[in-house]
Amino acid sequence: MTATLIEGKLVAEEIRAELKKRIAALEKEGIRPGLAVVLVGEDPASQVYVGMKEKSCAELGIFSDPHHLPAGTTQAELLTLVRRLNADSRINGILVQLPLPDQIDETAVIEAIDPDKDVDGFHPVTLGRLVIGVDTFRPCTPAGVQELLLRSGVNLEGKSVVIVGRSNIVGKPLANMLLQKAPGANATVTIAHSRTADLPAVVKGADVVVAAMGSPEFIRGEWLKPGAVVIDVGVNRVDDPRAKRGYRLVGDVHFESAVKVASRISPVPGGVGPMTIVMLMTNTVLSAERTLKKRTGGK
Ligand code: GUN
Repeated sequence: MTATLIEGKLVAEEIRAELKKRIAALEKEGIRPGLAVVLVGEDPASQVYVGMKEKSCAELGIFSDPHHLPAGTTQAELLTLVRRLNADSRINGILVQLPLPDQIDETAVIEAIDPDKDVDGFHPVTLGRLVIGVDTFRPCTPAGVQELLLRSGVNLEGKSVVIVGRSNIVGKPLANMLLQKAPGANATVTIAHSRTADLPAVVKGADVVVAAMGSPEFIRGEWLKPGAVVIDVGVNRVDDPRAKRGYRLVGDVHFESAVKVASRISPVPGGVGPMTIVMLMTNTVLSAERTLKKRTGGK
């Protein structure tokens, strides 16, 4: 058996086409969705991510408001900027790229963002709403995973989903999303992690495996139940002298062995990666739609 690919690139393209229509409808009402993108310092990976987010805004016709601040920015300065963006009616979403330099308390900055503009889905209020199943912004990477499964026709209802990785950004929110009584959810969810006893046996019980622990090629095909669906969230650089850049990207799943056992698998790159940014754009458009709804009295 060879698994078929779950191609995030194609699904992201489909969502972008839908977003263009929603943005056009907002335009008719005189609204252009706006995303503030805040980057502090010169971390090369963060610069690449922020550049991709700004480019995606431009392609869709979302107003992007870039704030690239020096590495020495103080916490007080950053909090002042966040508060200003909270009050700016042109801005529907605020994204503060993480990690932040050591002198800045990340939690304090995230908590300063107005939850109504928390398009990253990192604010404790957003996460609390997510846990109790109240409509809110879904954090972008878990939302990408859920959307990828839904749009690939993978029905999770009653299925056993094992999420390997317990991060605040992926594992914990995703587990809460997939166990909700809602379309694209209703799964029986297990979160496994680095201290899980006999991880291969836990993975063996899964109809759907989501790998999100950040260890290159850790999950082996032999661990999988035949026919399992595999979503690989990992993005790891491994040295490869044959590659042009001297490295290549691999996921948390050992693709060559997994592809022989799984029924469907998302590749790295081209799987979850392209979904994350499109979900950020989706949240920004959703925020603008909510603003319009409030203006028109919920009609
Ligand atoms: N750093 C790594 N991933 C992310 C993300 O999804 N959002 C933000 N703000 N920072 C990140």
